[in-house]
Amino acid sequence: AGTAAVIPAAGRGVRLGPGAPKALRALNGTPMLIHAVRAMAASRAVSLVVVVAPPDGAAEVKSLLDTHSLPERTDFLVVPGGDTRQESVKLGLDVLPPGIDIVLVHDAARPLVPVDTVDAVIEAVRDGAPAVVPALPLTDTVKEVEPRTGGLPEPVVATPERGRLRAVQTPQGFDRDTLLHAHETVTDGVTDDASMVEQLGEPVVVVPGHEEAFKVTRPLDLVLAEAVLARRRA
Ligand code: CTP
Ligand code: MG
Repeated sequence: AGTAAVIPAAGRGVRLGPGAPKALRALNGTPMLIHAVRAMAASRAVSLVVVVAPPDGAAEVKSLLDTHSLPERTDFLVVPGGDTRQESVKLGLDVLPPGIDIVLVHDAARPLVPVDTVDAVIEAVRDGAPAVVPALPLTDTVKEVEPRTGGLPEPVVATPERGRLRAVQTPQGFDRDTLLHAHETVTDGVTDDASMVEQLGEPVVVVPGHEEAFKVTRPLDLVLAEAVLARRRA
């Protein structure tokens, strides 16, 4: 029995603006991907980390893993990613060795998730949940709209009750067979792995997420991430 973390890191980072692929951008001097790898390897339960690299960046990612200090107890694999996050995760799952029975899927773009959150997700899978997601209550009220392009006013369709909504983070944790089955069965555009398990009709549960597990998506998120790192060092 073992736990592996698959880290999809193959995205361009279009919303972050021009530059290197997002996962290779530095946060306080260290690539975002290395922060994310350390966040997974910080859990003593995680024996293997699979990094899904930008399609033309596997060699660069391998050398980054070689030149940064990482825990001795953890094994690392690097595979090139695909055109969508879903494809990238699948390519990572394809190289999992036998003996892994719990799989975490963690965005490279969430480099600062605390180890306690990682361990809480693993614990909930060990306790029998086939799929576990860390999530937080929302602060903004959310409106469903009829989307319009070009900045036109968008008619509001509905306002879901905020108290029942959660903003979902990663790492998401899975029973290995459940996640593999989901990736073999569900093919349409989804934005997280747990929703694929939901489509199979399997239960998915939420555990508390963490503010520091936010996703680095837009330029302002880089400012926040560097401030969090500076505070940790202080
Ligand atoms: N990802 C991936 N393969 C893709 C697309 C995304 O592995 N083809 C990864 C990203 O590297 C990231 C995670 O999925 O770690 C979450 O995606 P997101 O935050 O959307 O990152 P990007 O797709 O890189 O950003 P953008 O959508 O702004 O281009
Ligand atoms: Mg994206």
